[in-house]
Amino acid sequence: MKRILLIVGGGIAAYKACELIRLIRKAGMSVRCVLTEGGAQFVTPMTLAALSEQPVHTSLWDLKNEAEMGHIQLSREADLVVVVPATADLLARMAAGIADDLATTLLLATDKPVLAVPAMNVRMWLHAATQRNVAQLRADGVTVLEPDEGPMACGEYGPGRLPEPEAILQAIVSLGTSGGRLAGKHMIVTAGPTHEPIDPVRYIANRSSGKQGFAIAGALARLGAKVTLVAGPVSLPTPPGVTRHDVETAREMAAAVDAALPADAAILVAAVADWRVEPTGIKIKKRADGAPPELALTENPDILAGLGRDARKPRLLIGFAAETNDVVPNARAKLARKGADWIVANDVSGDVMGGANNRVHLVTASGVEDWEAMPKDQVAARLADRIADALS
Ligand code: CTP
Repeated sequence: MKRILLIVGGGIAAYKACELIRLIRKAGMSVRCVLTEGGAQFVTPMTLAALSEQPVHTSLWDLKNEAEMGHIQLSREADLVVVVPATADLLARMAAGIADDLATTLLLATDKPVLAVPAMNVRMWLHAATQRNVAQLRADGVTVLEPDEGPMACGEYGPGRLPEPEAILQAIVSLGTSGGRLAGKHMIVTAGPTHEPIDPVRYIANRSSGKQGFAIAGALARLGAKVTLVAGPVSLPTPPGVTRHDVETAREMAAAVDAALPADAAILVAAVADWRVEPTGIKIKKRADGAPPELALTENPDILAGLGRDARKPRLLIGFAAETNDVVPNARAKLARKGADWIVANDVSGDVMGGANNRVHLVTASGVEDWEAMPKDQVAARLADRIADALS
């Protein structure tokens, strides 16, 4: 498990560190907080302790009195040190190597990677001194994120806003895989079923747990890719470092994929419902004469085929095909029909839907590879590896 040492600096964006703690823990990592004197003006040690379920450290001297954990140990036992928000003052002291409080002492003492996430007024960010300090820190090996641009708490507009906690988490995850083979690449993954409403209480859907698609999104993120996961209705946790968009219907999924373009690869794992009905606003009642309602089906957009003929088609377009018979011939036909580069075909005639294992065939223009049956996360890891090969 990855251990994060989170240094919370003194800026209005400190409150966003609270959400970040929640996300880090949800991603399966532990987090220990250090609060600067300035930071304590914005969030309390109690808040951070409650969210991290770890003691919060505020002063160099308290630490010694408690004899609980020295600052060297505190800085060394983490896998990554993250500074949120990195104020102009904190960046300046870091760049100068000043160690006059617990936070800066830890930053000087650590031998672990450091991620600084700046947030400050736009003029302070653009000031030559800050830009000089950031350049120095980057030269020293610190990863300094670019702040977001937008309206600021002080009423001005420009770069200086703290990036969203999800983006910070993504940076944390990719630092853990720094030098990852897919660093700098953007991947779109669709997963899960879609639900096509019939009326407010009923829907048409395909059977899909979403497990395989989520595993692929996670495996790609572990290789350092920026991953956009467009998920139909499933109850699965978001893999660490993955940006997730939840959708319900095929048309919503198509729109979310379109909005996420461009991408280096798209892996469409979702079991998209092929048809929809025009839903009624009110619940359909059973008729006294027992006659069933008639549902007029309309074909849904084919997201894979749409990407296959789009000018923004990703370099690598991968579809999945769940087949009950003639698995490989059907997959070959789909490859050609939908303009995909690869089809990952799986035989669902047995009991694989929703299960942990998957037996797949990788169908490409140059042939077919039969993979042995293996857990879905191994299929994901192997596929992510093959994607990295293809894009390198
Ligand atoms: N797919 C899609 N949009 C759709 C239907 C399917 O993007 N409306 C994608 C799936 O995500 C998958 C691939 O197309 O990657 C194959 O899906 P499948 O349902 O097997 O293909 P169909 O075209 O529906 O073919 P079939 O006649 O076998 O149902």
